[in-house]
Amino acid sequence: MGISDILDSYSKEYWDFKNAKNEGIHKIANYPAPMVAPMQHELLQLLVNENPDYRRLLDPFHGTGVTLVEGQEVGLDVFGIDINPYAHIISLAKLEKYNPIEVEKINERVLSRIVQLKARGNWEKHSFENINKWFRRDVIEDLSIIRTAIKKETDKSVKHYYWLCFGEIVKKYSNTRTSTFKLHAKEAEKINAMENHIFADFQNKICETYKLIGYPALGDFQLECGDSNMIMKKMDSESFDIICTSPPYGDNGTTVTYGQFSTLQLLWIDNSDFRYDISCIDNFSRLDSLSLGGTLSRNNAFYCSPLVTQYIEKISPHKRKKIIQFYSDYENSFRTMARLLKGGGSMVLTLGNRKVDGIEFPFSGINIDLAEQYNMKVEYVITRNIINKRMPRRVSRLSDGQSVSSMSKETTLLLKKGC
Ligand SMILES: C[S@@+](CC[C@H](N)C(=O)[O-])C[C@H]1O[C@@H](n2cnc3c(N)ncnc32)[C@H](O)[C@@H]1O
Repeated sequence: MGISDILDSYSKEYWDFKNAKNEGIHKIANYPAPMVAPMQHELLQLLVNENPDYRRLLDPFHGTGVTLVEGQEVGLDVFGIDINPYAHIISLAKLEKYNPIEVEKINERVLSRIVQLKARGNWEKHSFENINKWFRRDVIEDLSIIRTAIKKETDKSVKHYYWLCFGEIVKKYSNTRTSTFKLHAKEAEKINAMENHIFADFQNKICETYKLIGYPALGDFQLECGDSNMIMKKMDSESFDIICTSPPYGDNGTTVTYGQFSTLQLLWIDNSDFRYDISCIDNFSRLDSLSLGGTLSRNNAFYCSPLVTQYIEKISPHKRKKIIQFYSDYENSFRTMARLLKGGGSMVLTLGNRKVDGIEFPFSGINIDLAEQYNMKVEYVITRNIINKRMPRRVSRLSDGQSVSSMSKETTLLLKKGC
């Protein structure tokens, strides 16, 4: 039985994964729009069962690394790229794994260092532009003490782990609202009323998180933090058996502001323990501008799906530029992904059709056009209801200023490259 026949035997509702939550390793950190882990696992397992020679998987927009972790679980070597350093930090922690015996020892060391720094008062007060807008004064002090304690840790093998745990505490105690991914300060009363349990929360986070990550590491992995179009451009053709990803569905600014969501954490984490360029957080919107379809994009489309041309005629003229910019960047990515895939290799794309001016952007149809253009056959299409994904309820605005609801369905395309 081929993969299409197997997939035909599933009920339509099966893919909704109604009761599935991202548990265990996938709940160690918060990030917008993570993929449904059991679904990725099942699709990858089916592909590997059908193609036992498949070895290498690429996810060029890895987010929280769901696909990479599940890829490793089914025995693949994985390569991930994301422009957002916070997604990089989360995924690194999930893939590096940590020896529990080591973590327990270092936990004690970090916690006693915190106590000493507090008692002696010789910690380094952290600062950045507008820090007082985003953090209360007592919060700045306590976070600075923890930051100093992590910076002083000399065991490099687990330092990424502490930065990840710290990032989550930073976000929890920031003054930004949880109802939106954009940075938007809470009302003063709510900020003042927030109880400070920073030390206890940090202790709990470092003493529990490694148990969810699991140990030992399963297989080879490589992660790069940067623009995937630039990074993929330098890679050899036909070097991956599977490309499995969920790309952004539109420019970050008007779809999901992954950059704004992550900037406060990144302003606190010491980047000298990582390999990413700190200039991406020079201001609160820079990371989103650098991302696919952002204001700093400079790509041109080589082939333009007719669906794009038809679509832009229907929306307000001032919104067309962003759609064209996003499409051009995305087409560049698609073309490069097609080049990097081996003949006979599989591409799995999870896509959503967002709305602009109340009109759905036909992103899945556009990807089907692109597949045909770049020598790929559509093997199967799964449409599922989004039930548990953390997406903003409202994502864009109509020309009259009203907001419109976000997408409630997503499509997964299974493509196969011709030999
Ligand atoms: C839909 S999310 C991926 C969700 C992911 N599959 C998960 O499980 O969390 C899209 C990701 O694309 C990243 N991204 C946007 N533009 C990028 C670019 N030019 N290069 C690399 N990554 C980019 C964003 O930072 C974001 O993490």
